[in-house]
Amino acid sequence: MKRIIAFTGSNNPVSINEKLIKYIIKEFPKSGIEFTDIKKYTLPIYSQEIEQKGIPNQAKELFQLLTTAEGFILASPEHNGLPSAFLKNTIDWLSRIDQRFLGDKPILLLSTSPGATGGNTHLEILANLVQRWGGQLVGRFSLGSFQQNFNDDINSLNNSKDEESLKKLVIDLLSKQSVDKNENKDEVKDGSTSSSGYGKIKTTLNTPHAEYSTINEKEKEHRKEQLHGTLRREARTETLMNEIVSRYKNKGFL
Ligand SMILES: Cc1cc2nc3c(=O)[nH]c(=O)nc-3n(C[C@H](O)[C@H](O)[C@H](O)COP(=O)(O)O)c2cc1C
Repeated sequence: MKRIIAFTGSNNPVSINEKLIKYIIKEFPKSGIEFTDIKKYTLPIYSQEIEQKGIPNQAKELFQLLTTAEGFILASPEHNGLPSAFLKNTIDWLSRIDQRFLGDKPILLLSTSPGATGGNTHLEILANLVQRWGGQLVGRFSLGSFQQNFNDDINSLNNSKDEESLKKLVIDLLSKQSVDKNENKDEVKDGSTSSSGYGKIKTTLNTPHAEYSTINEKEKEHRKEQLHGTLRREARTETLMNEIVSRYKNKGFL
């Protein structure tokens, strides 16, 4: 069974985004979706000074937990059109361990708020950024007017259209196969490492910054060719150097 880690970007003890996640878990029992309360991972506000003394263990523990998932659901509250400072801070710490901390796994982005449009404004921002963090965006859903559209007593959505859209996205997420596994297989095949966890981090560390990660297969081949060209040139240079040394020793220049 897949393990999907569902978490919010909220530190509100009565978070409405958490309620949305609990609703999904109720509707998809035995799907492997489990809620993780990231408030438990208490992190200081990111600062380089703290980082130089060492990344907090809580950030490392959360990172480790994320590596065990095959996909994610993030229900993110909107604060002034942006993700919450709490979520941003968590992301900042995780990105210092591995910029692609979502490990090339699928992610569904959700948001709800009391406002009519829900968290649409900041979901757009997050949707553009998840790739940078190694997330494969499955889709996004925003539930507006939470108090009107969510029935707290029975933990359900009031509107069948919302229900249908949200469930379709969850099914899409559950049907996604993470590319991460295949990449790890290659690592093992190459003999670079036999540990899938380390292999993944190694892969991600070697992955260029997200802005450069849209290299298509052709470009990858081109890069390989360039590398082989360099190696061939190095081999030719070495032969030439050996020839010069040998001629010098044998007074071939005289
Ligand atoms: C500082 C602050 C800014 C907010 N800005 C927005 C906003 O831009 N858009 C919105 O729809 N709701 C906004 N809200 C309302 C939140 O959607 C609401 O507090 C919601 O409960 C947050 O989700 P949570 O309960 O899961 O933390 C804001 C709330 C706070 C405290």
